[in-house]
Amino acid sequence: MPEVTKRGAFVVIEGLDRSGKSTQCTLLLEQLRSAGVDVKLLKVPDRTTTIGKVIDSYLRKESELDDRAIHLLFSANRWEVASSIESSLRAGTLILCDRYAFSGLAFSSAQGLPYTWCRAPDAGLPAPDITLLLDVSPEAQAKRGGFGAERYEQTELQERVRAAFERVGDEMGGGGRWVVVDADAEQEAVARELWRHVEPLAQGTDEPLRRLWD
Ligand code: TYD
Ligand code: MG
Repeated sequence: MPEVTKRGAFVVIEGLDRSGKSTQCTLLLEQLRSAGVDVKLLKVPDRTTTIGKVIDSYLRKESELDDRAIHLLFSANRWEVASSIESSLRAGTLILCDRYAFSGLAFSSAQGLPYTWCRAPDAGLPAPDITLLLDVSPEAQAKRGGFGAERYEQTELQERVRAAFERVGDEMGGGGRWVVVDADAEQEAVARELWRHVEPLAQGTDEPLRRLWD
């Protein structure tokens, strides 16, 4: 009988600014690599594409855009990588993605755009097998150095984003596909907690690839 080949798992790390997300993505990448896992790290927004350059300029406050227009560009920036995510997964590569559609939903709805409107453009994207939300309290966030100069990096908005992520989590429901990780904890403890959830997926999965927001 031919060996059943598993597809790679799709792992998303989400979080507020200053939640330690990028650090944890790097640590997780290293841990997966040293376990011999074929893994690719992606980051959205990918600021290098044509659409990504428009997003970059907007985030740096070098240009202004209508809230809906920028939301659609963030989504388009994900659609640009959707087919490559899918083919990597089918080839057995684990995809680790720093932010995804949940950021789009949380940040744009926190700006006041209707939640259901925000969901629509990402419908049909490959769905992660697990999303790990690094949840940082406003207190811990405030202790971690100042925000940079980019758009969205301000306390009041971050609190609304945090509440919006909570709503996203509620709607994602149980089943272990959405996991909230206490990111106030020490870096090593957070890394251990992430590994505990990712390790079972490291060698791939038999689950069919789902779509957002099925
Ligand atoms: P960036 O510096 O690339 O990410 P990070 O904060 O993870 O280092 O900034 C991305 C910013 O854009 C961040 O504030 C979250 C926001 N964002 C959206 O508003 N919509 C989206 O769809 C995504 C992916 C990010
Ligand atoms: Mg940032």
